[in-house]
Amino acid sequence: MITFDQTTKTYAGGVTAVKGVDFTVEQGEIVVLLGPSGCGKTTLLRMVNRLETISDGKIMIDGEDSMALDQIALRRKIGYVIQSNGLFPNMTIEENVMIVPDLLGWSKKEKKARFNKLMEMIGLSGDKFGKRYPHELSGGQQQRIGVIRALAADPPVMLMDEPFGALDPIIREKIQGEFLQIQKEVKKTILFVSHDIDEAIKMADKIVLLRGGELMQYDTPSEMLVRPKNEFVREFFGKDRAIKSLSLHTIQNLREIIGLAEFDEAITDTKTINVHHDLRNSLSMLLNQEAEQVIVSDDNGNKLGAITIDLVQKYLHFEIKAKPALVQKG
Ligand SMILES: Nc1ncnc2c1ncn2[C@@H]1O[C@H](COP(=O)(O)OP(=O)(O)O)[C@@H](O)[C@H]1O
Ligand SMILES: [Mg+2]
Repeated sequence: MITFDQTTKTYAGGVTAVKGVDFTVEQGEIVVLLGPSGCGKTTLLRMVNRLETISDGKIMIDGEDSMALDQIALRRKIGYVIQSNGLFPNMTIEENVMIVPDLLGWSKKEKKARFNKLMEMIGLSGDKFGKRYPHELSGGQQQRIGVIRALAADPPVMLMDEPFGALDPIIREKIQGEFLQIQKEVKKTILFVSHDIDEAIKMADKIVLLRGGELMQYDTPSEMLVRPKNEFVREFFGKDRAIKSLSLHTIQNLREIIGLAEFDEAITDTKTINVHHDLRNSLSMLLNQEAEQVIVSDDNGNKLGAITIDLVQKYLHFEIKAKPALVQKG
């Protein structure tokens, strides 16, 4: 758990980058720090592992004042991932990943086992890649290595500063999904910086929206989309925020609450979608095909009914407003 208590940062030049911010990141949650460039996201993150000093207020990590922890204790507790992956070019992949365990004095055997386990989590062979150098890997592979390096000593807390920001959109989406899968298993307490709304909605259990160093709203993605607290939040998520919130709900949620339509056997060229898909996918399928309905099937391919634009609209108007956040992450 990380608690920010009136946390404030004024740089030597006089810029106050973070102004009296208060919020708590619960154990096992991903909290995304979101906001326009220069709003203080990186500063806020770097105060947690003391790469920046705190000017006023404090940060508590699992009940301990961050200022009271020594460097070794900090390294043990906090993994750090940055956009430019920070791998050392003259060290092998294995050496890079094992930097912190090395510092902590792990045995050779412990390190080997840990390295192989971490590589397995990202779907790369430890034997094949361990002796290679960072430049021999693709950008996506390097970024994955950056992530497992931060996980190496199994720290309870992870700080991630736009970790996937330098990757092309397709690889980024893939790594985001992969990371959510890993998080299901490792359940770290994560502060994740992003300036990308879609990424924030996808990754976050909760979002901290910042503007000029001040906290505008701290809420679940769907609360923030559906009930913005002020004009800035409303504008930031934009006019299509209702559509964006659809990605947080599945066809199954709609089925349980308002039910599906009967499918018309006479329509033969209709596509089929699995009931666990999200409503944003469903809507784009509906909009991209001529037919007025898409057939919904369960995992065994049984037809459960059909989904129509009308149904999605009905759900959007009545249910999302009443019951946000039906979908579990990951
Ligand atoms: N080392 C520094 N010295 C002085 N001002 C800084 C320093 N780092 C960041 N700033 C200023 O603090 C503000 C917040 O920056 P930053 O935390 O990097 O924002 P973000 O990560 O949201 O883009 C900006 O106005 C930036 O210019
Ligand atoms: Mg930044």
